[in-house]
Amino acid sequence: MPNDPLLQPYQLKHLTLRNRIIVTAHEPAYPEDGMPKERYRAYTVERARGGVAMTMTAGSAAVSKDSPPVFNNLLAYRDEIVPWIREMTDAVHEEGAAIMIQLTHLGRRTRWDKGDWLPVVAPSHHREAAHRAFPKKIEDWDIDRIIKDFADAAERMKAGGMDGVELEAYGHLIDQFASPLTNELDGPYGGSLDNRMRFCFDVLKAIRARVGDEFILGVRYTADECLPGGTDKAEGLEISKRLKESGLIDYLNIIRGHIDTDPGLTDVIPIQGMANSPHLDFAGEIRAATNFPTFHAAKIPDVATARHAIASGKVDMVGMTRAHMTDPHIVRKIIEKREEDIRPCVGANYCLDRIYQGGAAYCIHNAATGRELTMPHSIAKAHCRRKVVVVGTGPAGLEAARVAGERGHEVIVFEAASDPGGQVRLTAQSPRRREMISIIDWRMSQCEKLGVTFHFNTWAEAEAIQAENPDVVIIATGGLPHTEVLSRGNELVVSAWDIISGDAKPGTNVLIFDDAGDHAALQAAEFLANAGARVEIMTPDRSFAPEVMAMNLVPYMRSLQKLDVTFTVTYRLEAVEKSGNQLVAHVGSDYGGISKQRTFDQVVVNHGTIPLDELYFELKPFSSNLGEIAHDQMIAGVPQSVVRNAEGKFQLFRIGDAVAARNTHAAIYDALRLLKDI
Ligand SMILES: Cc1cc2nc3c(=O)[nH]c(=O)nc-3n(C[C@H](O)[C@H](O)[C@H](O)COP(=O)(O)O)c2cc1C
Ligand code: SF4
Repeated sequence: MPNDPLLQPYQLKHLTLRNRIIVTAHEPAYPEDGMPKERYRAYTVERARGGVAMTMTAGSAAVSKDSPPVFNNLLAYRDEIVPWIREMTDAVHEEGAAIMIQLTHLGRRTRWDKGDWLPVVAPSHHREAAHRAFPKKIEDWDIDRIIKDFADAAERMKAGGMDGVELEAYGHLIDQFASPLTNELDGPYGGSLDNRMRFCFDVLKAIRARVGDEFILGVRYTADECLPGGTDKAEGLEISKRLKESGLIDYLNIIRGHIDTDPGLTDVIPIQGMANSPHLDFAGEIRAATNFPTFHAAKIPDVATARHAIASGKVDMVGMTRAHMTDPHIVRKIIEKREEDIRPCVGANYCLDRIYQGGAAYCIHNAATGRELTMPHSIAKAHCRRKVVVVGTGPAGLEAARVAGERGHEVIVFEAASDPGGQVRLTAQSPRRREMISIIDWRMSQCEKLGVTFHFNTWAEAEAIQAENPDVVIIATGGLPHTEVLSRGNELVVSAWDIISGDAKPGTNVLIFDDAGDHAALQAAEFLANAGARVEIMTPDRSFAPEVMAMNLVPYMRSLQKLDVTFTVTYRLEAVEKSGNQLVAHVGSDYGGISKQRTFDQVVVNHGTIPLDELYFELKPFSSNLGEIAHDQMIAGVPQSVVRNAEGKFQLFRIGDAVAARNTHAAIYDALRLLKDI
């Protein structure tokens, strides 16, 4: 498409960007010792290879020791980073993409018990809700020191071959100065807008003086905090104009909102169920008012919306950041006219939530992201064609079928239900989580292209599978809810799935006992409360829904709090008894010494799944490996060679929740890493 607005080059000062799509700053938490080593480089280079015009590495690379990373960011204050940066920039440039890095001082958005245990600094003593540290009110010598740190870090990045640096000014130190909500200093750095912006301009001047005029410099800033008393749109517009008129920078990168709380962050980086491109018009207004190069990203997940963002002139460069975590080869597929092959970002924010809770960003349905050193984004053809039978069409089964198809094998899939999807189909029952079904739909369309044969409404018997004469059998039958967790009354309870699927009619006064702590309990609570029930969620854990994680919790809380759902932590449901048409719940605690009785008319138990593994055990004696997966071979990425039964006619492997209750990502990773070598 020669006229595709997305594929037109863009001239940013001396830098020619080959198209209009960028990956904005994001820290996937892959640094090792604070350095961008092989893994980091491989992740970054994959996106450059996929055709993106520019990749903004790192989110929030730290310029000072009192800005210790909260999610394993790069340490831009160390000289030893320069050669690592150089290796990465050389490799990205070789792929034809530009590369920049985002620098920051986190101010109060960090913790004093990290790194060198230095006090956290900010222009007031107000703490940030998300990271909880009470900051020291910044002094003049801190300000001088940090301005110099910014300039030093920028110089290191230039020495490392970066095309430019971007300053982070939303929720971090620079805009903690700018916002009236977080700046309680007197002059010269507090009070009027001139004074509140002084720190930002001092930093920019110090950097410019150090790196010269040819180096690209940009600011990513909130132009409307959307908080009473904070920087509002009028002031944001004024800030935008002043940034442009300073002559110090080359582009604006627009953020709308605030990130000091989980809900605030989720409005800035919207999760599934929230509107697409919510701040694009706002970014467009800033561009129109300033007539200055404008970048923007916020849930522009698909090519059509990105194209609109450019064609309508709202922005000059469009960020598709999570979209590139899901599919690093978006631009290549646009050029090859294969947009329908782009693996869609479903907005699950598993990537983001995991940087805090799991220590590294992974995409919920692309297990190769962040694992580029071991997992392929493009599957190589196998040397010989084999026959692979897959049972189950949840995420594990469909990924197995897709990867086996890409390998060039003959693939036959059996599914007992009439539709594919397994637990993901159930999840997508919640209107807010409907985007999840793209995990299934994309795999189905890929499988169809690859000639995979599907048999729906077919309960696969062991004999029928053996009759296919397969070389490989993959059991991806998933699991069923496990509710047998009480000492008495297991027959009186229903599962969260029963509620979500509509199999159980909602009660009016309902207890949900949730010790899985995953989405199912919250989804069931929402169904029940929307049907008019009074709902209490009880967990023996210290906090509720620990597996759901911070940003994923936001839409649930916005819904459940309005519906008056209550949460009870540290109590355990022990037994249920019938009393007339009511249920008596016997409640104890892992801490001991408590025994209470509570009355409800419905009790829901959410306790994960029990594997559906009958077929696996029936087939096991007939297989050559007796079901064994050689972990070392799987981890090393070599074919499985276990033979435990010389008479066996096929290899048998069990993956996903058919092994043990885990999650969608684990199921897909199981399938990819096994099948890529079969
Ligand atoms: C794992 C992850 C880490 C991120 N870290 C940063 C960061 O440190 N600094 C920043 O400005 N934005 C960060 N972001 C936000 C992205 O740059 C982008 O604004 C956001 O993902 C919305 O764009 P998208 O919908 O295209 O993904 C991060 C995003 C992700 C997914
Ligand atoms: S985890 Fe979800 S939001 Fe993050 S990149 Fe993957 S699909 Fe997109």
